[in-house]
Amino acid sequence: MDVIVKDTYEEMSREAAQIVAQAMRAKPNLVLGLATGGTPLGLYHELIRMHQEEGLDFSKVTTFNLDEYLGLPPTHEQSYAYFMQHNLFRHINVRPDKIYVPSGLVEDVQAYCAWYEEEIARAGGIDLQVLGIGRDGHIAFNEPGSSLASRTRVVTLTKETIEDNARFFARPEDVPRFAITMGVGTIMEARHCLLLANGPSKAEAVAALVEGPITSQITASALQMHPQATVILDRAAAAKLKRLDYYQWIYENRQYLGR
Ligand code: F6R
Repeated sequence: MDVIVKDTYEEMSREAAQIVAQAMRAKPNLVLGLATGGTPLGLYHELIRMHQEEGLDFSKVTTFNLDEYLGLPPTHEQSYAYFMQHNLFRHINVRPDKIYVPSGLVEDVQAYCAWYEEEIARAGGIDLQVLGIGRDGHIAFNEPGSSLASRTRVVTLTKETIEDNARFFARPEDVPRFAITMGVGTIMEARHCLLLANGPSKAEAVAALVEGPITSQITASALQMHPQATVILDRAAAAKLKRLDYYQWIYENRQYLGR
């Protein structure tokens, strides 16, 4: 696992955008896994800028989003489909038929989840998966206790996650209780995982992810087993790491490893 610490959220976002852009230039038909939430907004902002100012080309890229609330239509302002359209897709030249966001409105959810997994496989698997982390250490909506081998499925959100998300809804009771999410096992099959975290509220979860035991109680900790995981943090999110000096030393010496 590579841990990169930047001074600010903006620098963290730019570093992440460089990694995504580099992957797209190396493989124009990249299969890109995407997350929603506050964390990747700066990354998406930078990718939009690169598209508009530097011609970064998304025309051959396929995207798969991690999750969606069950019961929300894509027109709902709090749906993840709506979030992605407004914060990324409508500003870049990704083809609409190459965008996958789980649907929150399907009737046969189990068959749908199996289909979503098949589409990922049919696209050749995810090359680069962007991830955030919840305060309870979740990735996608894989809440504590999710199997580290789990696949795309319906989950019940924790009260903590519902509380965290309540700020986006008019009334707390409007926050959906269920979601469709890629599983930890699905995420672990991505060739490269790129997790971003910023702010003091994530420091504890980040320390558990990087330095704690691998446990289903912190589903992000599964990334310790991933052959290519990159964690990019701002200073506040890195504050509780014990071996911070070493991670920075590795980063400073990265050119000797040809990275
Ligand atoms: C959303 C997702 C979630 C978020 C996490 C952090 O697609 O996968 O796991 O990444 O809840 O959310 P923010 O970035 O809003 O702190």
